[in-house]
Amino acid sequence: MAQKQNLAVLGAQWGDEGKGKIVDLLCEDFDVVARYQGGHNAGHTVKFADRHFALRLIPSGILHPGKLCLLGNGMVIDPKALLDEIEQLRAAGAVIDENLKISETAHVILPVHKAIDLAREEAAGDAKIGTTGRGIGPAYEMKVSRHGVLMGELLDEAVLRRKVEAACREKNSILTGFYGKPAHDAGAIIDEYLRYGEIFRSRITDVTLLAHAQIKAGKRVMFEGAQGTLLDVDHGTYPFVTSSNTVVGGICTGLGVPPKQIHEVMGVVKAYTTRVGSGPFPTELLDDVGDRVRTRGNEFGTVTGRPRRIGWLDLVVLRTAIMLNGIDSIALTKLDVLDDFDEIPVCTEYALADGTARHYPRSAVAHGTYKPTYKTLKGWKSSTIGIRSYEELPQAARDYVRFVEDELECRVSIVSTGPRREETVVR
Ligand code: IMP
Repeated sequence: MAQKQNLAVLGAQWGDEGKGKIVDLLCEDFDVVARYQGGHNAGHTVKFADRHFALRLIPSGILHPGKLCLLGNGMVIDPKALLDEIEQLRAAGAVIDENLKISETAHVILPVHKAIDLAREEAAGDAKIGTTGRGIGPAYEMKVSRHGVLMGELLDEAVLRRKVEAACREKNSILTGFYGKPAHDAGAIIDEYLRYGEIFRSRITDVTLLAHAQIKAGKRVMFEGAQGTLLDVDHGTYPFVTSSNTVVGGICTGLGVPPKQIHEVMGVVKAYTTRVGSGPFPTELLDDVGDRVRTRGNEFGTVTGRPRRIGWLDLVVLRTAIMLNGIDSIALTKLDVLDDFDEIPVCTEYALADGTARHYPRSAVAHGTYKPTYKTLKGWKSSTIGIRSYEELPQAARDYVRFVEDELECRVSIVSTGPRREETVVR
């Protein structure tokens, strides 16, 4: 079969599925890697040539020479975070020159956005969303209110001045009057952000045109998702979601690429489930089994360091993700974390007050009342760390993969057995 041109790689759970490693692994075969939503709420470390690289805004393609990396219009960008990331990557040996371009219509995160994010979460107490505190939600709010600052406007002093002054007037009154927090000085923000504009001038461009030109020239594009399907603002576990469209449709709006240019979709699935922040989590393990998985899997947030919540694999979540994204194949990550268990339960459906659900119920009202029904599979009780061929996986591990494939009617094409690129089974 002919190789398909463009591929979307996105998370099928609540984020942290290990997309970074999969994108990095598949990168060789692509010319362009593009982000289309989110901001520096995302984060992962990639091991490359025995070095660790922390990526938040920039696609993993940046570590591979000759790959063009795009930050799409659907993103929200904190320019200081971007600058820090570029400097850290360069200090670690990455080459960042003409290979990184930023959409002129991506939205800018201002310090007042971060302050409101934090103040709102603090004021919400137990009802907090558990955001990453990076200002993501307030920046997207300003985008939708049509007062947002665009990356391209960092290059236009008069426009930037007018918009940042207006934003600060409004946000400062909320910060001081409603939340009792200090105000931010618009003048200082404008000076700082004009400097970022100068630094990024040569990178800020029409990324949509650039992406289309690349596609037309026959170059292969990988669309790199951030967060996960169940954190999508429309289709996730609202209100415990992020503020962008993490599903495949986000590529169309967040890059200006039509659906027919998305030729294949790979869903990244962790062999168990995790989430950070608040919100429903039907298969959550609140006991020492959860602690064991957390420790073995090193499940602590890359952005905030928070311990991740842990649960068994949830096929209800995955069926929903496959439906919403049209997932063609699955990359199953962190299988080795389950090496040590006698039995491994997998949730096949939820019991509801009035029946059962095989797809995630849409109503926020009943969130948290779903009771998972489990099928318990036998553990393999032997190390799969670093295994590279499917036949070498223990029979019980292959049975686990097979069960997932049969239940989801979706092929598992990659199994990851460790953080390194070579610790992977490609089928
Ligand atoms: P925000 O995106 O910072 O507004 O956070 C909203 C929700 O999304 C919170 O539950 C966060 O923990 C979660 N979230 C945001 N980014 C990530 C991510 O990259 N991985 C996992 N969870 C995330």
